[in-house]
Amino acid sequence: MEFSDFGNKLSQHSGILQLMDDISRPLPPGVKAKPLGGGNPARVREAERVYREELERLLQDGDKFEDVIAHYDSPQGRVGFLRTAADFFRKEYSWDITEENVALTNGSQSAMFYLFNLFSGKTGKEVKKILFPLMPEYIGYADQGIESGTFCSIPSKCVYYDDRTFKYTLDTDAVRKYLEEHDDIGAMAVSRPTNPSGNVLRDSEIRTLAALSHEYSIPLIIDNAYGLPFPDIVFCDDAAPIWNEDIILSMSLSKVGLPSIRTGIVIAKKEIIKAVGNINAIAALATGSFGPVLAEDLLRTGKLTSISQNAIRPFYKAKADKTEGYIRKYFEGTDYYFHKIEGSIFCWIYLPSLTIPTLDFYSILMKDGVVTVPGEYFFFPEENGGYPHEHYDKCLRLNYSGDDELVEEGIRIISEKYREYSR
Ligand SMILES: Cc1ncc(COP(=O)(O)O)c(C=O)c1O
Repeated sequence: MEFSDFGNKLSQHSGILQLMDDISRPLPPGVKAKPLGGGNPARVREAERVYREELERLLQDGDKFEDVIAHYDSPQGRVGFLRTAADFFRKEYSWDITEENVALTNGSQSAMFYLFNLFSGKTGKEVKKILFPLMPEYIGYADQGIESGTFCSIPSKCVYYDDRTFKYTLDTDAVRKYLEEHDDIGAMAVSRPTNPSGNVLRDSEIRTLAALSHEYSIPLIIDNAYGLPFPDIVFCDDAAPIWNEDIILSMSLSKVGLPSIRTGIVIAKKEIIKAVGNINAIAALATGSFGPVLAEDLLRTGKLTSISQNAIRPFYKAKADKTEGYIRKYFEGTDYYFHKIEGSIFCWIYLPSLTIPTLDFYSILMKDGVVTVPGEYFFFPEENGGYPHEHYDKCLRLNYSGDDELVEEGIRIISEKYREYSR
């Protein structure tokens, strides 16, 4: 038996596989898990109550439930939801869109997979690439290219502050120069808020990227999985929702607390949406109906955005503040920095004095039940076994959405081990 190149590329070990495995892998007997890995969102009771009410309403509405489960939706997604979403964004943000500008996917992870491969790989005589202009970026993208060598990236710039925080910023000159010197870029892509760092690209940075996209006639893919208007896990002001025809906006219902219903929403110009729907037909026939059924009225009535603003964002903001407190308390006296927590559900900690790569540090922490994600996976593509960024093997990503006591205990253990493995 022999796998194809496609088979080998997509079935090899990957960071995202390890991360998803870690979520469910049992630890050694007697070791209590401190789960700071993975990307699972928290259970936010107020939001869950609303989803339960919606489902109960569906169950009590004649045979609507049976009607939902008995039919495939269209490959572009549930038509009623597409209309509702287009109306919502047209009304709220004056985006010039109709249902032909909206497609659903089985999660935004699938959406990104489709989009990356729509715009990279063999294209006529050329091989096109996706440019990630702000490395580190989401681990889940790193292995999504079907063909090898179709991703390229620009290391972020980094500003350090006196209070042990730092912030990644766009190296605009480097991005511009890269585009000037390479005519094989098929699209640019960023997550906003950024997974893993919790950075939020400001409106001005997004406008710069969108203008470059326009100039070079390539789409700017913005992965808005944590962004506005839902789930709205954004803690800074100057970061408004944005869409125009140069932008492909990918959204998700996962981080409002619905990861299991696998619903991604793509907003883009019509040709792109048509292509996404057609890929859905080939890859999956249709998208799941439960997400759009559960969320349609919530979106129409503004409830989804109000839950996001009034329950989800405050919930994560409180968690972020506590996490910052734990880090300051336990790392005091060590050489540490953490990225300003501007959004997402992660804290990204930089340990400059670490004597071993974070891949090894991660394994040491695992023995004590502290599950994290080592930083190396978020820097890609690697060149000669590494990546040209001083943070490459010195960062850990911590998901702070879990139980406070376990987050605190995990951070305490990380700080102890850091002392042991410091220069
Ligand atoms: C930046 C980012 N994009 C996409 C996804 C995928 O989310 P889903 O497929 O559940 O919509 C995640 C999940 O953690 C993420 O962090």
